[in-house]
Amino acid sequence: MKGPARPVLDRDGLGTLRLALARLKSGFASLPDLDAPQEDAAAIERVLLEAADRLRDNYPYFHPLYAGQMLKPPHLVARLAYALALWINPNNHALDGGRASSAMEKEAVAEIARMIGWETHLGHLCSGGTMANLEALWVAGQLCPGKKILASQQAHYTHERITQVLGLEFESVPCDRKGRLEIGALGTRLESGPVGTVVATIGTTATGSVDPLPGLLELRERYGFRLHADAAYGGYFGLADNLAAETRAAYDRLGEVDSIVIDPHKHGLQPYGCGCVLFRDPAVGQFYKHDSPYTYFSSADLHLGEISLECSRPGAAAVGLWATQKLLPLVKGGEFARMLGECRVAALALFEQVRADARFLAAFAPELDILVWVPRAGRASEASELARRIFAEAARRNLHLALASLPLEFFNAETAGMQRDQASITCLRSVLMKPEHRQWAQRIWEILDQAASVALARAPRP
Ligand SMILES: Cc1ncc(COP(=O)(O)O)c(C=O)c1O
Repeated sequence: MKGPARPVLDRDGLGTLRLALARLKSGFASLPDLDAPQEDAAAIERVLLEAADRLRDNYPYFHPLYAGQMLKPPHLVARLAYALALWINPNNHALDGGRASSAMEKEAVAEIARMIGWETHLGHLCSGGTMANLEALWVAGQLCPGKKILASQQAHYTHERITQVLGLEFESVPCDRKGRLEIGALGTRLESGPVGTVVATIGTTATGSVDPLPGLLELRERYGFRLHADAAYGGYFGLADNLAAETRAAYDRLGEVDSIVIDPHKHGLQPYGCGCVLFRDPAVGQFYKHDSPYTYFSSADLHLGEISLECSRPGAAAVGLWATQKLLPLVKGGEFARMLGECRVAALALFEQVRADARFLAAFAPELDILVWVPRAGRASEASELARRIFAEAARRNLHLALASLPLEFFNAETAGMQRDQASITCLRSVLMKPEHRQWAQRIWEILDQAASVALARAPRP
């Protein structure tokens, strides 16, 4: 929904928060008043203003001209619901610490499971994608002890580290020119020895590429490995109605994987610390089985700590997610789905501008909402230096992009006459993950165009 122009960092919603706090307070009216010492309001104000001063030293992540890394502002309702919950500060480890927020977590996680077509599942929230993948690979290691974990060369760097922590072996599989796991290479590898688990990345960090799930499922049929989907970034995009056919084909079969990670703190409009891991077979709960001498007293119902590796976890994160999904249900054709579609439209629009400009070499068309491109140059090192200059010029104009180091093949650089004088190339990268980016794509292009003109004119001749 497009409304009137609004100031940056507006304070909308604080009145609603007061109202909700009053409602919350009324639930505890039977308690005797406290005679706690008065807080020093002046000292708190002083410190808070100092904190505000400190926080000004940030890129404007909330603004569409921030189009660099994966940073998406939490929805207003998420911020308010999270703040509201902080007055209680529930802990979703056990029902003893967070009764209501544990119930809200179970509901919210079940909605994510339903989004991928799972009516039954085992799942919970955690601190983020890394922790969620660690849990999924830990379960995979329990089921296939001592067997290797494979992921593509473009999989998130933490997979290799996680397997080290778990004492498992890791191997990477080559990617095609579009940053997706290469099915042929995986097939060859599977012929040569047993593999326990393959990680399919559904939205790679660098380029938003989606691994070919139908081909992976076919290989699983033949070789019997476990299939885990790291959809930390791209997990929600199955709701969008404007994916390319190959990408859609992957999402249509997402429900067939054994486990999946989706990060509400990436595209799910949540504040940080909100990842989610889901298992298709609830029986894997057996691996989490433990007793706690200190908790689990208050109820025989499931305590989330009984199915989670972490102990204390913020109930506020569950309240924020629950509220967001109430307002913006995870359904095709809904407002949340529309917002994801807008991000992809924005990325395609910017991609077309870059592709049509003779100064640039665009990589493949974005599958989701991330695009990468390089300035044309005689050598990869030169193109990398120009990319760094354009990045800096754009930042001077308030347009914040990102840089990434990627294979030259993604840009067909050698076909375009670029010499491979280094193994990879530093490219410009933009993550257009705010729905407002659709309206801002043209403005972003205009600033990029100016920044490139200045940077290329000032660059020393090779
Ligand atoms: C595909 C993918 N997996 C995992 C992660 C790690 O997630 P987190 O930073 O929430 O730990 C990221 C982070 O960008 C990611 O893009």
